[in-house]
Amino acid sequence: MKKYLVTGGRGYIGSVLTQRLCRSGSEVVVVDNGLVGGPELDLPRVTYVDGDVRDVGSWDKALDGVDAVVHLAAIVGDPACAVDPDTAWEVNYLGTVRVAEACRRAGVRSLVFASTCSNYGLTGDEEADVWSPVAPQSAYAESKVRSEHYLLSLPRDVLSSRLLRFATIHGLSPRMRFDLAVNVMTADAVARARVTVHGGTQWRPFLHVEDAAAAVQLVLRDGRHTAPSVYNCGFGEENYRMDAIGELIAGEIAGVRLEIRKEQTDPRDYRVNFDPIGRELGLTLGHRVVDTVRDIRDAMLDGGFADFDSPRYSNYLTALAKRDDPGLGAGGSVPTFPPDERVPSSTGGPRP
Ligand SMILES: NC(=O)c1ccc[n+]([C@@H]2O[C@H](COP(=O)([O-])OP(=O)(O)OC[C@H]3O[C@@H](n4cnc5c(N)ncnc54)[C@H](O)[C@@H]3O)[C@@H](O)[C@H]2O)c1
Repeated sequence: MKKYLVTGGRGYIGSVLTQRLCRSGSEVVVVDNGLVGGPELDLPRVTYVDGDVRDVGSWDKALDGVDAVVHLAAIVGDPACAVDPDTAWEVNYLGTVRVAEACRRAGVRSLVFASTCSNYGLTGDEEADVWSPVAPQSAYAESKVRSEHYLLSLPRDVLSSRLLRFATIHGLSPRMRFDLAVNVMTADAVARARVTVHGGTQWRPFLHVEDAAAAVQLVLRDGRHTAPSVYNCGFGEENYRMDAIGELIAGEIAGVRLEIRKEQTDPRDYRVNFDPIGRELGLTLGHRVVDTVRDIRDAMLDGGFADFDSPRYSNYLTALAKRDDPGLGAGGSVPTFPPDERVPSSTGGPRP
């Protein structure tokens, strides 16, 4: 039986990944400080540890017998990192250095790192591949680019890192986020009968949260790669212009008005080539953007997510609340989920 340690395993991607690893028979240790993480899931062979990636001094027990670490923990998103860039740097970059050090100490040789296609920043009509220059547009992307450089600079016999540059994620998770484009635009459309697109001509690639977790599993199972590697993680056909996303949502929800505003509020504009991850690891498209639009629409029409604009679903609002009241911390009152609360998951979890 394989054993994995997942940092940030109570997060949006981490919760889905933990479920999937557990269902495939693995043992999982989740280390998360609960900053924005969702509930601990009731799953066999999964242990939850309250820990911070900036302080790995006591991780030896958690790392005992671990085959690989999946490092997801971070302050996630441009807006959340912009609230307190120093803390974002400490958690995202120094936290990655600390996790790598803890791996070395414990003799864990394999690490999967969650990076982002945001690293490309601006590609216009060109498709970025892993050879393309990066152009981070934010403290968040900068912290990911620097973390990548650090991990790739380590001797491979000490730690072999596999880097997944995820497209922007969408879809239902036990720890839901409504600060991600497809999720929030859909929820807004259902609640307010309007979908607003800023700019519209900018390109973004999207990836379903289940497919993101499936990609991590493929990397973990891939015994051929003992050398460090970098993959763009997504699907070519899931590159969209943002006005097309607006049209798609308006087409799926009755009575919704599409509003395109000229001013662009997000400088990022990138299209990405994802061929290698399909060709080399066999990642196949499981769910498209339209599937998430329907899932969120149906969940809300069923009475779910009436509070989708609550701070607990937003990394940015959580970061703001924490800045204004530093006493709220990891596990503080804003982002915490009641212990028995569950949100629907695309794999069929109970409803709230
Ligand atoms: N969601 C996306 O669109 C997307 C896209 C590209 C890359 N990624 C990357 O994937 C990873 C997971 O993202 P997510 O969407 O699940 O975000 P998330 O915010 O839901 O999850 C992050 C998790 O990390 C935990 N955490 C935060 N600071 C911590 C600390 N100091 N110590 C321990 N745990 C801490 C949080 O409590 C949370 O559970 C991140 O590294 C992110 O940069 C996400």
